[in-house]
Amino acid sequence: MKLAVVGGGSTYTPELIDGFARLRDPAGGGLPLEEVVLIDPAADRLELVGGLARRIFARQGHPGRITWTGDLDAGVDGADAVLLQLRVGGQAARNQDETWPLDCGCVGQETTGAGGLAKALRTVPVVLDIAERVRRRNPGAWIVDFTNPVGIVTRALLTAGHRAVGLCNVAIGFQRKFARLLGVPPEEVSLGHVGLNHLTWERSVTVGGEDVLPRLLAEHGAAVAEDLRMPRELLDRLGVVPSYYLRYFYQHDEVVRELRTKPSRAAEVAAMERQLLALYGDPALDEKPELLAKRGGAFYSEAAVALTASLLRGTGDVQVVNAFNHGTLPFLPDDAVIEVPATVDARGAHPLPVSPLEPLFAGLVANVTAYEHLALEAALKGGRDRVFQALLAHPLIGQIDYADRLADTLIAHNREHLAWA
Ligand code: G6P
Ligand code: MN
Repeated sequence: MKLAVVGGGSTYTPELIDGFARLRDPAGGGLPLEEVVLIDPAADRLELVGGLARRIFARQGHPGRITWTGDLDAGVDGADAVLLQLRVGGQAARNQDETWPLDCGCVGQETTGAGGLAKALRTVPVVLDIAERVRRRNPGAWIVDFTNPVGIVTRALLTAGHRAVGLCNVAIGFQRKFARLLGVPPEEVSLGHVGLNHLTWERSVTVGGEDVLPRLLAEHGAAVAEDLRMPRELLDRLGVVPSYYLRYFYQHDEVVRELRTKPSRAAEVAAMERQLLALYGDPALDEKPELLAKRGGAFYSEAAVALTASLLRGTGDVQVVNAFNHGTLPFLPDDAVIEVPATVDARGAHPLPVSPLEPLFAGLVANVTAYEHLALEAALKGGRDRVFQALLAHPLIGQIDYADRLADTLIAHNREHLAWA
């Protein structure tokens, strides 16, 4: 089997490669890859990351080949699965997304609010072009999208008829964290994970057929809340565990105040990336370095291996993914993309039934779904009016004056990436 990684020059790649190196036994849910091709326009990064990737495979005794190229069409040729982990405009564009919304008193974040819209507008056309080229060469290949904003990008891919599934590590992160707190193996923990990408809640945590969420909160609520940087009593009042992205909604103004006092996450990440690339250049290094754990992508590799293995081997097991709603949440359109547990087989991801979503969560989900619809329209068709509408519909913006100012600023900062601007 051949896997192509678009954005293969990312500093995250050693994390991914480490996962595929360790998890190669089909009996253990792994995937025996014959070839991994890293595709990236940045030749210098590819050399560094590709070199380390080869050493990681060699150290783990993995017989597969690792190659790299700047040529997308050649790289995806013959691939069974194509993993998308690219970032249009790099950390510099992310830095902008995290900064200018703050001037309006709005959260500056790479996937939430106006910054997330900017990222969607830059990214959707690029991803659709890549997917089209994958389909032309390889109509049967699966696209696994880790490229943010995953909800909107996956909706774009599925709406265009691509064989795609969207992936995020928030759910697997909770599963691993809860397993550790409960002292059970992660495979035994099933999450009642529901919502949209980066807008989810864990409504249950099932171990051995029993919902242990009340016990988890009673015994470990403080540890869970601390990780999320949310007040402990909020978890009790909601009776669920929100993802840390809900902080941008539930504590919006507090987060804005905090963000104004410190360097952006993009600046932090850019500094880390310089250090990581320097480490990757060391021919003695043959495992993923500790420093990589400081990035947000923990367990990304394990989620990616599991999903790719289920798609290619048609295992039909349950994973949390991004897929078309198709009636799962009846108050949303069928073509909305939701993030829920789904069975994954050779035909794709099929969401499991979900019990009715309480108004406390459903309101926000419906609102952000409408925003995502408008964001995708803006990304596909362009135009200041569409950008304005998406911003106006976003629950964290919603006022004409802000939407106008943010629309102008977004376009001004992203002109080089927007064909229509
Ligand atoms: C989590 C999210 C990803 C996001 C990442 C950011 O993993 O699920 O979607 O890309 O955090 O991490 P970073 O280290 O780049 O801030
Ligand atoms: Mn994510």
